[in-house]
Amino acid sequence: MRVEPTGVSLAVRRGETLMAAAERLGYRWPTICHGQAVCTACHVVLTRDTEAFEPAGPREQAALRLFEGRSYFDGKIVRLACQARPVADTTVTKRGVRAIEPRPERRSPPDR
Ligand code: FES
Repeated sequence: MRVEPTGVSLAVRRGETLMAAAERLGYRWPTICHGQAVCTACHVVLTRDTEAFEPAGPREQAALRLFEGRSYFDGKIVRLACQARPVADTTVTKRGVRAIEPRPERRSPPDR
């Protein structure tokens, strides 16, 4: 699975959601509700291969109704990365996906 515009490639396990795969592989994925299908912050846009994910379940379908009538999304396929389980390789668009930077080691001030 490729995520643009950053060009991140993710090896998603069978039955795993796209967001879960990203987090397992050390990427930060935009979220507010942490996978509860409430915030829609995790949404991705597909421009092709619309069959590359399992069909949306009831919770995802309910959340996706929030995109209806928003002109930016007219003609685009939107899925929630916290719910959508890929069944084939494709490319999605999601801004804000990036590798989690390791925290710098904390050092104690030198003894004086
Ligand atoms: S993480 Fe909130 S809807 Fe997906």
